[in-house]
Amino acid sequence: MGTAKLQYDGKEYDLPTVVGTEDEVGIDISKFRQQSGLITLDSGYGNTGSCQSDITFINGEKGILRYRGYPIEQIARRGSFSEVCYLLIYGELPSRQQLDEFNEGLTYHSMLHEDMKKLFEGYPPTAHPMAILSSMVTSLATYYPHSHQEDRIDLNILRLLSKAPTIAALSYKKSIGQPFIYPRNDLTYTENFLHMMFAVPAEPYKLNPVVERALNLLLILHADHEQNCSTSTVRMVGSSHANLYVSIAAGISALWGPLHGGANQKVIEMLKMIHEDGDNYQKYVDLAKDKSSGFRLMGFGHRVYKNFDPRAKILKQAADDVLEDLGVDDPLLEIALNLEQVALKDEFFVKRRLYPNVDFYSGIIYSAMGIPTKMFTVMFALGRLPGWIAQWKEMREDPKTRINRPRQIYTGPTEREYQPIEDR
Ligand code: CMC
Repeated sequence: MGTAKLQYDGKEYDLPTVVGTEDEVGIDISKFRQQSGLITLDSGYGNTGSCQSDITFINGEKGILRYRGYPIEQIARRGSFSEVCYLLIYGELPSRQQLDEFNEGLTYHSMLHEDMKKLFEGYPPTAHPMAILSSMVTSLATYYPHSHQEDRIDLNILRLLSKAPTIAALSYKKSIGQPFIYPRNDLTYTENFLHMMFAVPAEPYKLNPVVERALNLLLILHADHEQNCSTSTVRMVGSSHANLYVSIAAGISALWGPLHGGANQKVIEMLKMIHEDGDNYQKYVDLAKDKSSGFRLMGFGHRVYKNFDPRAKILKQAADDVLEDLGVDDPLLEIALNLEQVALKDEFFVKRRLYPNVDFYSGIIYSAMGIPTKMFTVMFALGRLPGWIAQWKEMREDPKTRINRPRQIYTGPTEREYQPIEDR
């Protein structure tokens, strides 16, 4: 273990360093305030490690993403989403028997309590499905009130993973006024979701294996991304020992924002706007460069990736393949490809190292699969569930976890006298 030295006001402080398995070095400041009375300030947490974690490794300079050591490129090509859930949550790839048991659990718990249907009925048809998803996941805590008990954690993990696709599909059915479709135990996790989304009672639904494979890929690529905004939210809420359901519901809300998971919906809206405006890419690249416009190229840029986002690379290829396999000719793909070309050559984007992120091409694939735009961020949330769960579990099992409680530098008024209202 090394030491970093920090000098302030004639005093020197020794701060121990921590080295990760990929040789990342961090300066441990956990005793710093106690020693010095000082705090560190890091708005947006770009330099702050909030935990030590065994789950996901990212190297933003080299475009590396690994789940529990396995490169995303290998998992995306060969894995199944339920296997990835198991890997992230329990640390190792499952044996055949472990996976069979896990899949059985995922299937068995997919029905919702019948009373929950009444909750869906209360929402207006225009309700955003992310609001419904977050509220319904919170509501699960009312149906399973003992979710905080240690011996029920695995059961509740299964329940959450299993019921979330049912909730998501029902929120879609509600928005289009179609009857709810119940889960089927003879289908896999991904097949079941597509069935609940697209089947109607009036006729049989034929699953398209191309769509099922694309869904599997998309869910895997979104499964975890270390300490991003929504995951940090899950850990933050869970650090108060709030139960699994409400901690994840908070993460869903954080994901909804357009700078985070909500960007996938915004990308498609942006591409449509560019298309309707005569495919003038340069105009929108120029607009994004003009800070006063308030416009950003959605699906571009990342806090961590500074050369390329490996997920975007996989999705760009997948978008091509899926559209071809499904025989879909979407002009938005052409626009996205051209926009990327224009932006990547522009000095503004080059200098700031802004590249397409995971959200840039995912929406084009979702659209080709028949998933409506408003559901895109819900799809992201379904994919991210195992990551949130794994991070929540790791945090709760870590003896070093304390309730998350950052400090601040106060910049408001100093002490002043209260004035009664008649004197103001
Ligand atoms: N278009 C135009 N300019 C941009 C963009 C963009 N998409 N992204 C960043 N910039 C500029 C920004 O104005 C700033 O310029 P300057 O240094 O001159 O002030 C510089 O690049 C750094 O940006 P930042 O906002 O300080 O970077 P950040 O690390 O705080 O934000 C980000 C990262 C992803 C929020 C941001 O790049 C962004 O808003 N992108 C668009 C939204 C998006 O696609 N979000 C999805 C992220 S990936 C999936 C996920 O995490 O959910």
